[in-house]
Amino acid sequence: MERNFKIAPSILSADFAQLGQEVVDVINSGADFIHFDVMDNHFVPNLTFGPVICESLRKYGVEAPIDVHLMVEPVDRLISDFADAGATFITFHPEATQDISTTLELIKTAGCKPGLAINPDTPLTHIEDHLESLDIITMMSVYPGFAGQSFIPEVLEKLSLTRKIIDDAGENTFLEIDGGVKVDNIGNIAKYGADVFVSGSGIFGTEDYRATIDSMRNELSSI
Ligand code: DX5
Ligand code: ZN
Repeated sequence: MERNFKIAPSILSADFAQLGQEVVDVINSGADFIHFDVMDNHFVPNLTFGPVICESLRKYGVEAPIDVHLMVEPVDRLISDFADAGATFITFHPEATQDISTTLELIKTAGCKPGLAINPDTPLTHIEDHLESLDIITMMSVYPGFAGQSFIPEVLEKLSLTRKIIDDAGENTFLEIDGGVKVDNIGNIAKYGADVFVSGSGIFGTEDYRATIDSMRNELSSI
């Protein structure tokens, strides 16, 4: 079966002093989505950026889908801000909201595509309960908070279980893997069912973005 793989560089590892150009460069180098990691120094012990930066990227001319990964608590109040700022996907952690269905509905009503992000130790029950409302599932292969961590291999089993849940239900939900993805492991991860690959340090930490993304696609071409 031909799968349509997407590469989603995480701007967490970009040079923020020239963020617009960095994003244009990865898109021109073959990236599909821009992964936008929002951290609040509360849900996770790190602080990054918010809706105004997303809006700036749109104003700079970025047209690629922006995949907003919210590592914030609470979630709901930020949704309309990100929708207005041009977010495409908005993904949140089930632990961070009072009522998952309400938050998913808010995202959809705001005109964005909802998703759930699942930590390595979070069960898949939330996926099973809300599958029909999800456009994307983000399977965390590190504990959220920082770029540059090592891929946790135990997550691969959860990834294939999630792929089965999606396929058995006949849904076409994106299955994204986030954390520690690089050229040397992307092919193996794809075998377990991921179709969207977030990579921060694995792309922005390299000299030649096009060469890196081409190498990733090359690894994926034999899957
Ligand atoms: C972790 C973030 C990831 C991270 C990925 O909290 O959600 O998106 O930036 O970075 P790398 O690819 O360097 O692990
Ligand atoms: Zn992320």
